[in-house]
Amino acid sequence: MGEPGRPIIQVEGLEKTYLTRTGERVKALSDVNFEIYDSEFVSVVGPSGCGKSTLLRILLGILPKSKGTVLLDGSPIEGPSNNIGVVFQEPVLFPWLNVFQNACLPIRVKKLDRALYEERSRALLAMVGLRDFSNKYPFELSGGMQQRVSIARALVPDPPVLLMDEPFGALDALTREYMNLELIRIWEESRKTILFITHSISEAVLLSDRVFILSPRPGSIREIVKVDLPRRRSLETISTSEFGQIAKFIRGFLGQGDGEGTAVL
Ligand SMILES: Nc1ncnc2c1ncn2[C@@H]1O[C@H](COP(=O)(O)OP(=O)(O)O)[C@@H](O)[C@H]1O
Ligand SMILES: [Mg+2]
Repeated sequence: MGEPGRPIIQVEGLEKTYLTRTGERVKALSDVNFEIYDSEFVSVVGPSGCGKSTLLRILLGILPKSKGTVLLDGSPIEGPSNNIGVVFQEPVLFPWLNVFQNACLPIRVKKLDRALYEERSRALLAMVGLRDFSNKYPFELSGGMQQRVSIARALVPDPPVLLMDEPFGALDALTREYMNLELIRIWEESRKTILFITHSISEAVLLSDRVFILSPRPGSIREIVKVDLPRRRSLETISTSEFGQIAKFIRGFLGQGDGEGTAVL
């Protein structure tokens, strides 16, 4: 798993310039080039404001690019696709729907076969450890449990690609660690291709096959670091010297200026 095979996402010469309401041009991404392979886990780290969320929104097909090529499985991304799921930092659950109903939302939105995909929602809720919480409402769940509902929901349409934008950033350190281990398990069981944005270097190293380091805005790929630590990884992985060396190497590119970048390790 995660060995270079077929590229599923290909980005070439990607550039994004925002035009603000006051007519100012903000270049967020400049000449971004990379490929992500089928079943690979890639993290993206970089200073705040360097264009990480911009990149994710372009891949998601909800934000137009200014220049370049962005391909999903060989075809240009031109709008939201059933082949890409997304998890944002905030769980965005509907408070008046219970866990099961929230998880089933894509069935209505994407007009999927109800019986088939309700079954899948149940299986996914079980996979994220929420089998007994289907009838609960979001306010009855912890932040980590709410985020697990979001992850299950993103997987309901069975997209081959999952994009995650700092999904555990709002969680306390212990819950975050637990969610990292959960995500490793989910990734290994579901064999998705995952692009994971984080500003935690340790999270990136623990989870990823490769880490893309972005430069300050306008973001471009500054370095790609291969993480060849053995799988399956666990909390013990974090205390190995190999882990420490890779994390240190990555931190060297990010410097001390970005307070967020060093907050979690
Ligand atoms: N809609 C927008 N209009 C103008 N500028 C934007 C808009 N969205 C983001 N930006 C700017 O683009 C840059 C990159 O933003 P973003 O992709 O959110 O960074 P990151 O996720 O890495 O923190 C920032 O300078 C941000 O202020
Ligand atoms: Mg962001």
